[in-house]
Amino acid sequence: LRQGALAGKRVLITAGPTFEPIDPVRGLTNLSSGKMGYAVAQAAAEAGAEVWLVSGPTCLATPASVRRIDVQSAADMRDAVLRELPSDVFIAVAAVADYRVDAAATQKIKKSTDGMTLQLVANPDILAEVAALPDAPFCVGFAAETEQLAEHAEAKRLRKKLPLLVGNLAQDTLGQDTAELVLFDDRGQHRLPRADKLTQARHLIRHLVNLLN
Ligand code: C5P
Repeated sequence: LRQGALAGKRVLITAGPTFEPIDPVRGLTNLSSGKMGYAVAQAAAEAGAEVWLVSGPTCLATPASVRRIDVQSAADMRDAVLRELPSDVFIAVAAVADYRVDAAATQKIKKSTDGMTLQLVANPDILAEVAALPDAPFCVGFAAETEQLAEHAEAKRLRKKLPLLVGNLAQDTLGQDTAELVLFDDRGQHRLPRADKLTQARHLIRHLVNLLN
């Protein structure tokens, strides 16, 4: 990857899971270590970009010269992203919870032997919202699927109107240090055979730079 390929560009990245509170001690979340998003942030910084990383809860260290904003819920993540716009590039790697508890309890819910029902409401789709802005940055999405990767990923790319979407199989990547990726863009599919996530992230940034130019 050419050094300085993203010099002067502002790149906004989301990473990690979101945490949707049920009460002050419980919540709903997704399986996501944040490793891929942090690797993408590092690769973008290596290419000279000014990188802002909006991160859900992870145990990872912030990559060098990356500015990090910590958030918990999808609503917090959306607010942080909108506050950090405009940017030249937006890369949504976070595994955002699709639903939140409609009215989280302010005090700990007491256990009982009865069952309980949680009323869930849909969370905003941060990536779709950013991609639909009149001055939208170049938007990149991620899709972790458990089956029919190409069909689901390409459908998602078209629905969210993204120039680039990165697909992977959930069972191959969750929590792991390596990933096998497929890049989907207007010209078709590009496979990145299994490699560590930083190597994959550098390939992704190189591909993105080519599409930007
Ligand atoms: O729709 P789905 O969640 O499968 O799409 C995945 C892509 O959309 C990822 O890039 C993810 O970060 C982004 N996304 C988002 N906000 C959501 C849900 C997904 O930004 N509420």
